[in-house]
Amino acid sequence: MAVNLRGRHFVSITDFNTEELWQVLKTAETLKLETTRGQQHHLLAGRTLGMIFQKPSLRTRVSFEVGMTQLGGHAIYLAPSDISLGKRETTEDISMVLSRYCDIIMARVFGHDIVVDLAKYSSVPVINGLSDMEHPCQILADLQTIYEKKGVITGLNAVYSGDGNNVAHSLMYGAASLGMNLTVVTPPGYEPDATILSESQALADANGCEITHSTDLMKSCEGADVIYTDVWASMGQEDEQEKRKAFFMPYQLNEKCLDVADDDCIVLHCLPAHYDEEITYGVSRTPNSAIFDQAENRLHAQKALMVLVGAV
Ligand code: CP
Ligand code: NVA
Repeated sequence: MAVNLRGRHFVSITDFNTEELWQVLKTAETLKLETTRGQQHHLLAGRTLGMIFQKPSLRTRVSFEVGMTQLGGHAIYLAPSDISLGKRETTEDISMVLSRYCDIIMARVFGHDIVVDLAKYSSVPVINGLSDMEHPCQILADLQTIYEKKGVITGLNAVYSGDGNNVAHSLMYGAASLGMNLTVVTPPGYEPDATILSESQALADANGCEITHSTDLMKSCEGADVIYTDVWASMGQEDEQEKRKAFFMPYQLNEKCLDVADDDCIVLHCLPAHYDEEITYGVSRTPNSAIFDQAENRLHAQKALMVLVGAV
């Protein structure tokens, strides 16, 4: 039976249970198929999405804005300098004011506490468009891509190599929720958050899969169905970029990883990429790479999310 997500926040991927995540993925699949066939879905006609950005973006901004247009609604982009969140005005006041005008709020922020606070004070659904701790919309698109390419998610073996960051955290929770085994491979000192690791391991246990941490990339990639990476220094960590290169180079996704992975393995990267650092340009352009499908699926997954939380 279809679940009802109307009015719900999506701050962490754990805000939705397994059945609810599947509802988003199935809705995304239908919207994508029907949109490709030329069908229009004006399910959010007359509704407005407010988009707060403290950090730069290509995919998140454009996919949410295009998504809202395709759904018959409107999106307003609020640049970092427009509202100076926390400086010109408190998060509490911004949330209370924006939710009087907008039907959904999406925010890309530095501290995760900011998006938690936006949700606390908002009377409309708040969607996390990336925080320092999580990137749940990215992982919706990733799961949709995996499902599209492999026909299943449950029981697959995935590897994430690189920094134990926001993308890794949401991927750990998302994999655990949908029963996909995941090995997170990081250099020592760059492990994922310990609480998120133990919480995702408990969730995985309940769903019959395993989330593990390793420092051995080649062994982890053996027979893998999915290999995934992200930048070594996230937005806000630019001054560490050079220092990190030395630690992270052995964790690069390259041709050797593909050689030992399953022949039909798919390669993912949330983008933007630093080619020949976390991933070789060559691997990103192999037939195994689903990087640009993954970017496209941001649009479909988020349309599904907005319809489910925001339609009247
Ligand atoms: N993957 C992703 O969130 O891309 P942007 O930073 O360009 O939005
Ligand atoms: N971990 C990266 C993801 C970018 C989409 C960052 O936070 O910059």
